[in-house]
Amino acid sequence: MSEVIWGLATSHVPSIGAAMDRGMIDQPVWAPLFEGYRPAREWLARNTPDVAILVYNDHANGVDLDIVPTFAIGTAETYRVADEGFGRRAVPDVVGDPDLSFHLLENLVDEGFDLTVFQELDVDHGFTVPLSVWTPEPGDAWPCPVIPIMVNVIRYPQPTAARCYALGQALGRAIASYQGAGTVGILGTGGMSHQLAGARAGFINPTFDHMFLDAIENDPEKLASLSREELIRQAGSEGIELIMWLVMRGALHKQVRKVHSAYHVPASNTAAGLALFDNRVAQPA
Ligand code: DHB
Ligand code: FE
Repeated sequence: MSEVIWGLATSHVPSIGAAMDRGMIDQPVWAPLFEGYRPAREWLARNTPDVAILVYNDHANGVDLDIVPTFAIGTAETYRVADEGFGRRAVPDVVGDPDLSFHLLENLVDEGFDLTVFQELDVDHGFTVPLSVWTPEPGDAWPCPVIPIMVNVIRYPQPTAARCYALGQALGRAIASYQGAGTVGILGTGGMSHQLAGARAGFINPTFDHMFLDAIENDPEKLASLSREELIRQAGSEGIELIMWLVMRGALHKQVRKVHSAYHVPASNTAAGLALFDNRVAQPA
């Protein structure tokens, strides 16, 4: 038996990583965002799991647009930090956990989620920025091995929110049946509302974001019922990344305890959000 001890939802805006890498976190434009992260980071530093699973999307950096798997998993020993055009971020490469990856793959395929497998994968800001949000000063290594689960949010037709939530629930069952690890953390990344291009470039919807932040804790089924079109209408064309929060949430219990949440506008052209949940909560019979 392995146990999911926490779930972390966080935006993965590349400039958040750049601000950290370039020593800009105390600048007035950035300080409030990082102040908002502080309680979550302090709690996470006291609650390091044996292994983490990070649900993210690649942005045509690790994998080009000719091949876009709907759902995929990495089974590698290590994942290199991708060069997104400015050189690789000066953060550690990621150590994986092939045994747990294979267990998840087997169990998810058996449950009808036919994941594509990456035996080799460079991870972009969708992956490394959430790791930096979790651990601002990793030193030589991130706090534990991390397994990538990749979701297509960039090419139509993206998986539905309901399918992402169901994947999370299957993931939770797969983790519970694993003998090899003790404790597991799950990250769901992306969002919040944003649109980077087109007629609505710069679109941000705080009303929707606050609804989402509340419902991801208390009513994830409501979010799972949102259509692709509704998500894009309400959250912007890239705000559909929020479906990855539902994979994380599906792997947690029905009832969770919110440790901390934060919301800040803007980070780049994006509404940045964070929500951290303790999964070690007594469940109703
Ligand atoms: C930006 C890129 C992202 O992948 C994202 O999720 C939010 C913002 C950006 O380039 O600003
Ligand atoms: Fe993104």
